[in-house]
Amino acid sequence: MKPWPLNELHGLKEKGLLRKLITTTPLGKVIVEVDGRACLDFSSNDYLGLSQHPKIKKAAIRAIDEYGVGSRASRLMTGNIRLYTDLEDAVSKLKGTEAAIVFGSGYLCNLSIISTLTGPGDLVLLDRLCHASIVDGALLSKARIIRFAHNDLSSLKEILEQKRTSYKNVLICMETVYSMDGDIGPVSEVLHLARQHAAMLLADEAHAVGVFGKKGEGIISQGDEQKPDVIIGTFGKALGGYGAFCATTKAFRDYLVNKARGLIYSTALPPASLAANLKALELLPSLENERKRLLLWAKDLRNLLVKELGLRTGGDSQIVPLILKSVQEVLELEAFLKKRGIIARAIRPPTVPKDSPRIRFSLSSAMDEKDIESLKEALKDFFSGRKKS
Ligand SMILES: Cc1ncc(COP(=O)(O)O)c(C=O)c1O
Repeated sequence: MKPWPLNELHGLKEKGLLRKLITTTPLGKVIVEVDGRACLDFSSNDYLGLSQHPKIKKAAIRAIDEYGVGSRASRLMTGNIRLYTDLEDAVSKLKGTEAAIVFGSGYLCNLSIISTLTGPGDLVLLDRLCHASIVDGALLSKARIIRFAHNDLSSLKEILEQKRTSYKNVLICMETVYSMDGDIGPVSEVLHLARQHAAMLLADEAHAVGVFGKKGEGIISQGDEQKPDVIIGTFGKALGGYGAFCATTKAFRDYLVNKARGLIYSTALPPASLAANLKALELLPSLENERKRLLLWAKDLRNLLVKELGLRTGGDSQIVPLILKSVQEVLELEAFLKKRGIIARAIRPPTVPKDSPRIRFSLSSAMDEKDIESLKEALKDFFSGRKKS
């Protein structure tokens, strides 16, 4: 008898859902070598090209020279080097919160925070399109989980009205820019509902930080009078580095330092990552033109998809999904684009709902006009003569 994982793998292959790692070598800000060929990368989250920024690289190298390659311990032991304090100060300043706390990655951050804040007898309300790290945090908490329809305030309101009183604590989770759809979450309206029903709100700004806001602070700004209780952001996307943060109150920070297992039982981030993140935050305010350019290109690409090609897309950000009818068509487009020197990876269930496999184009301000044009030309060629989705 074959071991059961092999049967499952076979099943995935049959359905066109087998995931495979490709090996890439970055050759510049937006070019990666794949299978010996230099390709334009439309699948990275390096929205501002900061992973290759000379000043950020220099800061990381300096930190290695000063502190070494690893942090040697968890933060609660001796891993909490000075760069953590500097980075957390910079985050709380950017977000206009009392305090901030840095975690190992966005996944770890959501997993730890949600499972720390809620437990049996509590209720976690998730937007239906919340990222896997949010879902997994809720599952780990053993709280009751209810999903509300995506960005649908009446669905959320109805659940709160019907269920709030049956649970001790209620945490609502949402994203400010949704990772696979690129659309924006109605954060102030959700916050209003949360306050009306004595619920807490966690808003994940993973794909908003760096790209939105006058200084790149994200959708939730320094000056906002009312803010979610917990604001999550990652350093691994527009900031080009690695790690994540939670911007919050001093009291919540103290609570997380005492209770969040992903912080307590995990080695502190390497000094190079901390220093790179700090430098990226320092550069953010100066990148206003980059942010404008990025969002304009995304709008332009959406126009092509909808108006010229009659295809299905959505969103209002640098993430432009192209939703197709079948996994088969998505895989064909992925292969076609690769032949044209463009990497744009297929996104299939379970990452997205069964009826909406897609290619998720993520743009970078480090691209130039002709890079965007070559994607547009390739899309026109692929879809010309094809039946529209
Ligand atoms: C909304 C959201 N939150 C969290 C994460 C996880 O962040 P990280 O890649 O830093 O683990 C992602 C990653 O794609 C995401 O899209």
